[in-house]
Amino acid sequence: MKITYYGHSCFLVETAAARLLLDPFLTGNSAAPVTAADVRCDFILCSHGHEDHTCDALAIAKANDATLIANYEIAEYFGAQGAKTHGMNPGGAWQFPFGRVKLTIAHHTSSVNAGLNPVYLGVACGIVVEADGRRLYHAGDTALFMDMQLIGRGGLDAALLPIGDNFTMGPADALDALDFLKPKVCVPMHYNTWPPIAQDAGAFARAALARGHTVNPLQPGASLEL
Ligand code: NI
Ligand code: MN
Repeated sequence: MKITYYGHSCFLVETAAARLLLDPFLTGNSAAPVTAADVRCDFILCSHGHEDHTCDALAIAKANDATLIANYEIAEYFGAQGAKTHGMNPGGAWQFPFGRVKLTIAHHTSSVNAGLNPVYLGVACGIVVEADGRRLYHAGDTALFMDMQLIGRGGLDAALLPIGDNFTMGPADALDALDFLKPKVCVPMHYNTWPPIAQDAGAFARAALARGHTVNPLQPGASLEL
């Protein structure tokens, strides 16, 4: 399993059988190393409805004939606009051709801005992908929660965790998350995209190391083989 960071919370996950795009936010993200038109993928996974996790989902799904995997409401929302979708909900898992996906809980909101009022699209989720003998957790946007201990119990080759604060947990809570999850490696995400979520990922990595955890802050465009 190879993961490539596309900036913010967007990752390309390449398994033996498929290319998965997680939380597509390329258009409008100056750190993104690729454009939405250049991305090739077979599946798109969205943790929740917010634009910085879904804004390119529909266009990329249509251009690639890719299946969009998300909570039921997001799946219905994009399905009504012509995307192939697979709706799920927290606690549920499904065996896809590339491996198994399970949605977890997350403590966050989930909406899209349609006109003046936000449209609520179910609950925010985290995503666990099991493929090629590897187990990956993308936390989406979330606060720290005790049940992360349960997610870590299956063993994690990597955890992708938000550290930006303000909208999600910040570095201090992400350190506690690492104590719960115990991943082989953590890749921080959802930071430095805008001033309210500016963080020092190097300082986070050093603090994590002092508590026995490995953090690898990937630059946008950089990859990691699990
Ligand atoms: Ni969000
Ligand atoms: Mn977000």
